Amino acid sequence: MADTAHELFEHHGRDMYDAEQKLVRALKRMAKNATNPRLAKCFNAHARTTERQARRLEQVFKALGRKPRRQPCAGIDGLIEEYSTFVKEEKPGDEVLDAFSAEAALKVEHYEIVAYKGLVDLAKQLGLTNEAGLLKETLREEEETAAELETLSKQLGKSLPMDEEEQEAGRSWTASLTGA
Ligand SMILES: [Fe+2]
Repeated sequence: MADTAHELFEHHGRDMYDAEQKLVRALKRMAKNATNPRLAKCFNAHARTTERQARRLEQVFKALGRKPRRQPCAGIDGLIEEYSTFVKEEKPGDEVLDAFSAEAALKVEHYEIVAYKGLVDLAKQLGLTNEAGLLKETLREEEETAAELETLSKQLGKSLPMDEEEQEAGRSWTASLTGA
């Protein structure tokens, strides 16, 4: 039973401890599947950062006198599953896969940003100043990664191949905006 702020904090901590470990594996896999070198580099770099984030959560548990335990994070499971299913069922071409992967990773970062904001707030509320500081460091890393992925996602989306009809639709839409 969880009925205090402290218990909610620990629950969220275990949830993210599970998420970070699953994400190390997922990011490495996504890096291997990526064709765009900047995207692959971003995934690999964030996989290493994610390993550090898991260690940081272990530090938080240790400070609370708790053994780090994982609570299956259904949200991240779902996002990883969405990526795997797309790769398996749609058999995307390189450009589409890269655009899809950048967006999938961005969704993950947004999930994590919300989760860490909640953890930082709870830590502050509970007077866990050092732990709030550690979690804030992770939050800053997730925000930086999200910003980089957002830029990449837009670029990759724009360079997706289009057929004749789509190009024509794009041209007439632009023309309607400019009044040409
Ligand atoms: Fe993370």
